[in-house]
Amino acid sequence: MKIAVVCLGNICRSPTADVVLNARLAEAGLDDRVTVESCGTGGWHVGEPMDSRTAAVLTDAGYDASRHRARQFGPSWFDHDLILVMDSSNEADVLDQLPTGLHDRVHLFREWDPEVVPGGAVPDVPDPWYGGTQGFREVLATVERTSDALVAELEARLGD
Ligand code: 4NP
Repeated sequence: MKIAVVCLGNICRSPTADVVLNARLAEAGLDDRVTVESCGTGGWHVGEPMDSRTAAVLTDAGYDASRHRARQFGPSWFDHDLILVMDSSNEADVLDQLPTGLHDRVHLFREWDPEVVPGGAVPDVPDPWYGGTQGFREVLATVERTSDALVAELEARLGD
């Protein structure tokens, strides 16, 4: 199973989800069956490492932020089984490109957030780019609890 996580620049939110989900999948022993990679709908930062504020928050929490290089969403990503977008604007940009028959692969990341009220609107993972450090910490906290719930569901679905 191939999962893509998508944001705008691929230097803050989706790299955080990429690193956290890969860590959780390895802990769950699912990393041989589920792969996660990330990209952005915009191409401004292609080839660059993570934003230094994102990398600092991840490193402080014990994750490896060093290996990331930004990539851009496009047709080579259409083969992913799940395309998890960080906000509704990323969702619109991805759906614009993706063939209609594949639209059901696209989900807002926070659909799995245990703090989101079931049945209500699914909120965005807010873009931390223009804000202070607290915004980056909140992205990590949101990504961690959502990744835990997502990996638990994958374990239930794929577990033997
Ligand atoms: P991300 O954050 O989509 O979470 O990676 C952003 C990074 C860069 C820009 C916008 C958002 N930018 O405008 O360059």
